[in-house]
Amino acid sequence: MKIDIVSIFPEVFEPVFRVGMSRLAQERGLLELAAHDLRDFTADKHRRVDDEPYGGGPGMVMKPEPFYAAMTALLGGSPFVLPKGVRTILLTPQGVRLSQPIVDGLSKAERLVILCGRYEGVDARVNTFVTDEISVGDYVLSGGEIGAMVLVDAVGRLISGVLGAEASLDEESFSNGLLEYPQYTRPASWLGLPVPDVLVSGDHGAVKEWRRRMAELRTRARRPDL
Ligand SMILES: C[S@@+](CC[C@H](N)C(=O)[O-])C[C@H]1O[C@@H](n2cnc3c(N)ncnc32)[C@H](O)[C@@H]1O
Repeated sequence: MKIDIVSIFPEVFEPVFRVGMSRLAQERGLLELAAHDLRDFTADKHRRVDDEPYGGGPGMVMKPEPFYAAMTALLGGSPFVLPKGVRTILLTPQGVRLSQPIVDGLSKAERLVILCGRYEGVDARVNTFVTDEISVGDYVLSGGEIGAMVLVDAVGRLISGVLGAEASLDEESFSNGLLEYPQYTRPASWLGLPVPDVLVSGDHGAVKEWRRRMAELRTRARRPDL
């Protein structure tokens, strides 16, 4: 999969993409990540990406033309006519709230182009040439960059071959409508807190049943909405 991110702060992605899952996925040739400077797609000498809002009001609005030019350059054609397997995403608090099913869907794409807003947001005409508008939660961030990192991480780890033990994905929180069961590691007793007996019993059937029951109890207690 290839993921392009367009932002006025492309440098913030570099240290994040250099570690952990993103690094491994790139080294294994499974994920290609590139962050682009939105200002490189401006046509004026001041490399301007924002302007005052029509109708007045505080702050600045991001202009549509640099985003359009960036998409056209990256895709090699109009963002209105996309090759198969390409999804283009505008990060916005007004988009569809990100969830594991949405991440699953995005992980099947061959290519993602992610647009990050700043300031008071993006000219509403940008919405007309993206396939998806995504929010990372019901709160307002000062820019789309952290949301883009969330997307890259959540999607990247689902690409086949990126994580070692892929079977573990099946039991992870949200994968089957449940939160994951509690996990423990050594020592077996710590600060007077023992690991549940069943986990050290060696009885694989009992462990499986305990985990299923705990996942259900946890989900009911913490996220009954699931
Ligand atoms: C300060 S926000 C603009 C908010 C906008 N004025 C509004 O009220 O909807 C600037 C940029 O941050 C990003 N952003 C902020 N909150 C976000 C969220 N919850 N999910 C995704 N992107 C977000 C978007 O790219 C947005 O264009």
